[in-house]
Amino acid sequence: MKRSYDFGWSWSALNGHWLVALLLISLSLGLQLEFPHLWPLWFVLSVSGLICFIGGIILRTTKHLKFALLPFVDVFRSENDMVLDAGCGGGRTTLSILKVLKKGRVTAFDRFDAYYIEDGGKKQIENNLKIAGLSDRVDIVQGDLTEMPFPDSHFDSAVSTHVLDHLKDKKKKSLEEIYRTLKPGGRLLMVVWVPGWVTFSLANVFCLFLSNEKEWRKMSSETGFTLRDEGYFNGMYFAVLEK
Ligand SMILES: C[S@@+](CC[C@H](N)C(=O)[O-])C[C@H]1O[C@@H](n2cnc3c(N)ncnc32)[C@H](O)[C@@H]1O
Repeated sequence: MKRSYDFGWSWSALNGHWLVALLLISLSLGLQLEFPHLWPLWFVLSVSGLICFIGGIILRTTKHLKFALLPFVDVFRSENDMVLDAGCGGGRTTLSILKVLKKGRVTAFDRFDAYYIEDGGKKQIENNLKIAGLSDRVDIVQGDLTEMPFPDSHFDSAVSTHVLDHLKDKKKKSLEEIYRTLKPGGRLLMVVWVPGWVTFSLANVFCLFLSNEKEWRKMSSETGFTLRDEGYFNGMYFAVLEK
């Protein structure tokens, strides 16, 4: 058993940005030497390479637990809450929830098949919980967020970090499922990528295809949620939504 936390980020997920940065900067240098008059092109390539390099640094921080903090907001109803961690992956957020939830239980829910997490994350979360001595307070459940195996009004509260933004046309369906499984008055803390400088350094122009804050507000109010709080946290957007 590994003794240090490991969230399973694969080699390509951790190094991909740096490889692309290296490629862009090499191309830029080649152009500068061979075709110095094409300076607008090599300038853009150099800046893109630099931004990509910074994206790689930001991404690498996510493999450390100390960067997996959550915003200080009002989500839990009591210290005995039954909390859903929707899309727990290797368990970074589960561990963060348990830092403040002194008595309750967490259901760590995931499909455990993400290509960018080695072995999907199930082994990692089990091991990470063992290291933290918290295995007895977490139920690990495998399944799809668009069709969760829990009854209506089951959880007191829910947290979902960097998950709903991955779900393409299933975002609203997943929000509806979280809404269904929350008790009336229960709150969801949602953290998602939105277009911005941090996501630009991580995804370049592709960040423009992410849903923005206005779209998330619309989707959550159409689902039935009331927005209780929102803001930015580590360059990401968060919202506290109440059923
Ligand atoms: C970027 S990881 C985030 C993991 C964790 N919340 C964190 O912040 O470290 C996204 C996770 O969402 C999960 N996921 C994506 N789509 C899902 C779905 N439809 N049902 C269940 N889990 C899903 C993936 O398997 C992956 O573990």
